Amino acid sequence: MIKVAIMGYGTVGSGVYEVFRTNKTSIDKKVGQELRVQYVLDLREFPGDPVMDVLKHDFEDILNDDEVKIVAEVMGGLHPAYEFTRRCLEAGKSVCTSNKELVAEHGAELIQIAKDHQVNYLFEASVGGGIPIIRPLNSSLTADVIVEISGILNGTTNYMLTKMSREGLNYDDVLKEAQAKGYAELHPEADVEGWDACRKIAILTSLASGNQVDFKDIYTEGITKVTAEDFAYAKKAGCAIKLLAVSKKQGDTYCVMVAPAFVRKENPLYMVNDVFNAVCVEGNMLGASMFYGSGAGKLPTASAVAGDMVDAARHLGKIITTFWNPQKLELAPVGEMTHRFFVRMKSDAKDAKVFGDVEMIDAKIKGEIGFMTPVMSEDAFARKAKNLDIISMIRVAG
Ligand code: HSE
Repeated sequence: MIKVAIMGYGTVGSGVYEVFRTNKTSIDKKVGQELRVQYVLDLREFPGDPVMDVLKHDFEDILNDDEVKIVAEVMGGLHPAYEFTRRCLEAGKSVCTSNKELVAEHGAELIQIAKDHQVNYLFEASVGGGIPIIRPLNSSLTADVIVEISGILNGTTNYMLTKMSREGLNYDDVLKEAQAKGYAELHPEADVEGWDACRKIAILTSLASGNQVDFKDIYTEGITKVTAEDFAYAKKAGCAIKLLAVSKKQGDTYCVMVAPAFVRKENPLYMVNDVFNAVCVEGNMLGASMFYGSGAGKLPTASAVAGDMVDAARHLGKIITTFWNPQKLELAPVGEMTHRFFVRMKSDAKDAKVFGDVEMIDAKIKGEIGFMTPVMSEDAFARKAKNLDIISMIRVAG
């Protein structure tokens, strides 16, 4: 029998507890012995909930029980999650987490600490919720050089953009509705400003490159400026608008960006709607491959955390190699990234010619024009756009 603990009984933590209760027989069979949830850590009380039988309020109770070999850290946030994780690893306990903030900030360091203590730090649930993407990058695609990762990595914004597209609503109305339904948080900045997707693409790029990508280096735009008019143009052009996180190999490094983008029907990300996430990975041998599924939510995320706990149980005393060193990766300047640009201007069509051979899009909106430029770099676009009266610009996915 292997004892495990869950730190945090919020949405994901209660999900992990539920996964163990519902699938106990199957999980124990797959591990080859019983995996018993010995403790759940939370400061609160949960009267009437079966968790009361195992609830603890003091972290030291978990830390000091040498029989606890695996801990799920599903508290979220940096502190005290960082300190608790470190101390568990140093005490010889493997840690499995959904905490993308912690993984993005301290992933390489915590993997190294785990290695030094013959245990594992696993974080499948930190990107794409229940979608397996960390393990494929870390073990299945190791014979490939990853040349591009592009993904819809945030469920909240994908839900909002899908709603705007289907119902012709404005950003503010969709946000209010999403908040009322509990899809968007009261303080939605991490999602709508793109910071959540930014941390996730930083984690994926770290795994693709093997070095530490600082999420603060990544150019990030959210969806707050996307309007119903932008959607009218997108539809006319046969495109969806998605918040894309893109990482492209450039020489020895990667060029990374998070921003809304026009996505054409031919692109597999076009049909990824509502709260679903998807990640397209292009390997130099594999070619293109897409991972799709529930990118957020209690049980999908808990499923990934519990799956890591099973893996940790199968590897007690053995290190699962993760290719992610603490050495920082200097990203390529984002100005070198190339794509087409969709532009709206308060002008007439002849002014659009500054961008070259543009493709006009008539969405029948008075007092403005909309068009797509040829492929050019971010820097070239910025130079040409400098003195023009541009209403909005959205990149076009390749
Ligand atoms: N807020 C995140 C999302 C949760 O909407 O995708 C999952 O990481």
